[in-house]
Amino acid sequence: MSMRDRAAQPHLSSSPRRRGSIQASDERKTEAWMDPGLRRDDGVSRSVPARLRESLLLPVVLICALISTFAHAADRLAAPHLGKPMTAGEAAKWDLSVFPDGKGLPEGKGTAADGKSIFVTQCASCHGDGGRGATAEELVAEPQPLTEAGASKAIGPYWPYATTLFDFIRRSMPAGAPGSLSSDDVYAVTAYLLAANGVISETDEMNATTLPAVKMPNRDGFDWIDVKH
Ligand code: HEC
Repeated sequence: MSMRDRAAQPHLSSSPRRRGSIQASDERKTEAWMDPGLRRDDGVSRSVPARLRESLLLPVVLICALISTFAHAADRLAAPHLGKPMTAGEAAKWDLSVFPDGKGLPEGKGTAADGKSIFVTQCASCHGDGGRGATAEELVAEPQPLTEAGASKAIGPYWPYATTLFDFIRRSMPAGAPGSLSSDDVYAVTAYLLAANGVISETDEMNATTLPAVKMPNRDGFDWIDVKH
């Protein structure tokens, strides 16, 4: 290639050579680092222990940082410093589970007659007159075979335990104000719904003893799963 041709070349043509020269000087530096006998560009000869100290510095700093991170994490686990301890009264508001055998039922009582006015004023707007269904589920229906397509899952034909009904109403109804009913109110409206489904009579009082003794029509209609096996 003549000088003129070279001048006509785009400027780019010199770049591979420039890159090459950088690589060469990098290689020299690497060699200087690896070979303890070589002098570095600054002309100062370094002893092996000095360089050893340099090379140990980074790992030591990293290990210290790690130890301090773990120490802080352990500190946080031991004392999260979040929120404040729950009082027994606050915990009781969440301790609502009523079990099928009636464990967890509170003191109190009510009959269907007591529950009717509660149902009319606080429940019928969503569940319909007499619990026959409106915007929310129907709660009352005649006993019927559940094997038919579209069978009702209202309380009478479907629910296996009366205690579950108390639990559901106490913790979640009326939908706009859960927890607002007293224990007597919940017993009363539960009695109202059981009577409307023909499971108990209008005059039967529901309380912590009588409610678990109610046998729902579909009690034996479920295949129970034994979770122990
Ligand atoms: C604002 C509307 C509204 C009001 C008022 C209301 N409910 Fe409900 N209720 C619902 C809705 C919606 C559901 C379905 C919720 C779900 O399945 O999670 C429901 C579900 C239920 C169920 C379970 C039905 C089932 O078969 O799964 C019962 C029992 C019940 N309500 C009782 C009551 C009682 C008793 C009252 C009055 C004290 C009441 N509800 C007031 C909206 C309402």
